[in-house]
Formats: sequence, C-alpha cells, structure tokens
Amino acid sequence: MDSREFAKALERQVSGFCQTLDVNPPAYSYIPLTTDEMRIKVMQSRLFNEIRAGEIFGGWLKSTPELDVKKTLAEATHEEYLHAAFLEDALRSKGAVPHDYKPLPAQMAMFNAFEGLTDTVERIAAFPMAGEGVADYLIAKSLKAGTVPSWVTEPYQKIHQDEEEHGNYPFEILVKYATTAEKQERAARAVAMSLVLRRQYFDNLDRWVYENKTY
Ligand SMILES: [Fe+2]
Ligand SMILES: [Fe+2]
Repeated sequence: MDSREFAKALERQVSGFCQTLDVNPPAYSYIPLTTDEMRIKVMQSRLFNEIRAGEIFGGWLKSTPELDVKKTLAEATHEEYLHAAFLEDALRSKGAVPHDYKPLPAQMAMFNAFEGLTDTVERIAAFPMAGEGVADYLIAKSLKAGTVPSWVTEPYQKIHQDEEEHGNYPFEILVKYATTAEKQERAARAVAMSLVLRRQYFDNLDRWVYENKTY
C-alpha cells in the first residue's frame, strides 16, 4: 500500500477508537470527575505518563538510525519533562504530593510494551501516533467540556498547545518510512497493541479512581 494511504488508514483506526470513548469518557479525561480528590489521582497517574514518555523517547535515541526521527525524539523527550513540571505545579497548588503514586498494572504494561518495540515505524505508530493521539483527543475534549476546573485545564492548555505545534509529525514519519508491506504490517499490529493496552489502562484507572481498587 502507498505509505500515505497506509498512514491515513492508521489515523482512521485511532480516531475510531477515540469515538468509542465519546459515550462514556474515562476518568482519564477528567470530564466525569466530581471531586478534586479524584482529579488529583488522575493527574498523578498522568504525571507518571509524562515521565515515562520522556524515558521511552530518550531510550529510543541510540537505536534510531534516521537522523530526522532522532532529532524529533530528542525534542519530544525534553518536552515531556516540561509537561511533567506543569502537572507537578498544579498538583502542589492543591496540596498534593506529585509523585506519591503507584503505576497501575496495565499502565506499566503499556509503557513496557512501547519500550520493547524495535523498529522506527512501529514505535512511532504505537506511541506518538496512537498513544499520544488518544491522549490529545481527550485533552481537547476536556478543554471544551466547560465543566473541568481551571486548575486542571490550565496545565493542559499548555500541553495541548505543544501537541498542536508539532503538527502531525507521526503521520509524516510514517509517510516517509512505512514504505514496505513488512513495515506496514508491524506498524498496524503495534497500533492495535497500543489501543488494547490503553483501553485496559483506562479501565484500571477508572477502578482506582471510582472504587479505590488497588493492585
Ligand atoms: Fe508528547
Ligand atoms: Fe506530554
């Protein structure tokens, strides 16, 4: 398949997943939450994600031969720690201890799975395209909802702006490098894996936030 058509097909797969979240947005989106205690839990979980995202992008640098992708990953690594600082400040403003948090099982699995990917197109498809694509979809939704308090929306406005500024770099990387049937097949499976694990992470987070389920 032409690589641009392929990248478009993956984007459709990701937006299909996003639409399944519309009826009943997960706690992750902050939209259904009614107390700051709940919002703090979600923000602590999402702060862990920023830290882990930076570790993963940075960890991929040495094994990424494509110089343009290496540079993009290096910038993304730095950016994740800026995002972490925004969330740390917001949590402190509410008297919470930012990193007083234990990752949920599916959350650990999701990041460990990203970390284990070895090929540039599968990495970019699984994480910046599918993973961050879903995250940013829900950020946009929470900013528009009008019911999420400003101590939550303020840091996410800045995070959302960063995500917008990159343009659609995962798409362009796939157009450039997902040029063989073998690479496309691996990237498609990595996206499916990413979405399955994300669904499980959202479920784990819902149960922790709503039912205090610990593991
Ligand atoms: Fe990011
Ligand atoms: Fe981030």
